[in-house]
Amino acid sequence: MRKLNFLAERDPEKMNVTHLECALCGLRHEAHRLHNLCRECGKPLLVRYDLEQARNSLTKESLPCRRADMWRYRELLPVENDDNVVSFGEGWTPLLRASRLGQAVGIDELYIKDEGQNPTQSFKARGMAAAVSMAKELGATKLAVPSAGNAAGALAAYAARAGLESFIFMPRDTPRANVVECEQTGANVTLMDGLITDCGAEVGRRKEAEGWFDVSTLKEPYRVEGKKTLGYELAEQLNWELPDVIIYPTGGGTGLIGMWKAFDEMEQMGWIGSKRPRMVTVQAAGCAPIVRAFETGERFADEFPNAATTASGLRVPKAIGDFLILDALRNSGGTAISVTDDELLAATREIGASEGIFCAPEGAACLPALRKLIESGQVKAEERVVLFNTGSGIKYMESFGG
Ligand SMILES: Cc1ncc(COP(=O)(O)O)c(C=O)c1O
Ligand SMILES: [Zn+2]
Repeated sequence: MRKLNFLAERDPEKMNVTHLECALCGLRHEAHRLHNLCRECGKPLLVRYDLEQARNSLTKESLPCRRADMWRYRELLPVENDDNVVSFGEGWTPLLRASRLGQAVGIDELYIKDEGQNPTQSFKARGMAAAVSMAKELGATKLAVPSAGNAAGALAAYAARAGLESFIFMPRDTPRANVVECEQTGANVTLMDGLITDCGAEVGRRKEAEGWFDVSTLKEPYRVEGKKTLGYELAEQLNWELPDVIIYPTGGGTGLIGMWKAFDEMEQMGWIGSKRPRMVTVQAAGCAPIVRAFETGERFADEFPNAATTASGLRVPKAIGDFLILDALRNSGGTAISVTDDELLAATREIGASEGIFCAPEGAACLPALRKLIESGQVKAEERVVLFNTGSGIKYMESFGG
């Protein structure tokens, strides 16, 4: 078999990961071990790199000749041995200029990062590509996940490609397409009465006895590494000048946390300056724990009661990385905003009709959020704004009456 076309200039003997670090208490954890949460305080771990060393082969100038997927940033991804990389070509999605939509809302320079074009049709592919590659490298064989739908579809596909088993727990009312794709890619699927938090609790209860490795978002340290490539791509696609505002539909927040981490890494490598985009979280009015915590000034968000929204990926009543999301929003001068299901469904059609992009309802939620920010004077016409369409609308037939 042809080996993956990795980068001749990278020294395969030199691993750039130095260690993992607790995002709250800072405790150091050894690299190249299977880890979940911090052994002291139970919060997420983040991967740290020797960025000086990474910079020896990963330069801005080297990028144009590299693979057109997220592995173009190979030196800043945690897999040691190229043979363990499990990939369908995820990432390097287009950053589409949305001029007609921009005109309609009154923004000169509006872009949509179209993550619906990923394998398995959502940005969850990035995280699962990294997590499954690492699970393979570190010897896990049975991977378990609670999911709102798209993470499940991604895990099922990547696990199958890696020759690993997957065990997936989803709410019973998850979009049907997500359930079918998991079944057809060989996953063990369990549908539960309840929410993603109930599914997560079930994985937690059973994982030890079953020998499962828990790849829940941010309870596993590598999904965020895959997602951080969103930040690298954005900078590269905008010629190393970050936008003024990023609007991101937030459930567990992994993409937002990952981008924020990527910006710091890029600054340390001398690729960008200290200016950051204002990060904006969008949630559904029926499940807005981060918006509520942002408004009340809390650093940790309480569980949101009776969570309900048709944007299934936003139905996350409690996120373990809540403080990381809230810190990024506040440190960037950003905000958090909620939109109703009626607003986000109308936006799906508006974006589709004006730009030809069939958004996931989660991604569409960025549009009414932007309108509210313009109305309140928090975003100005001349600012450069990026909306994240995190998935394809094609999996949400029930939301659109199909
Ligand atoms: C399409 C889509 N958008 C957004 C989200 C929320 O992502 P995150 O957990 O990274 O905040 C999800 C999560 O399931 C999703 O499927
Ligand atoms: Zn800790």
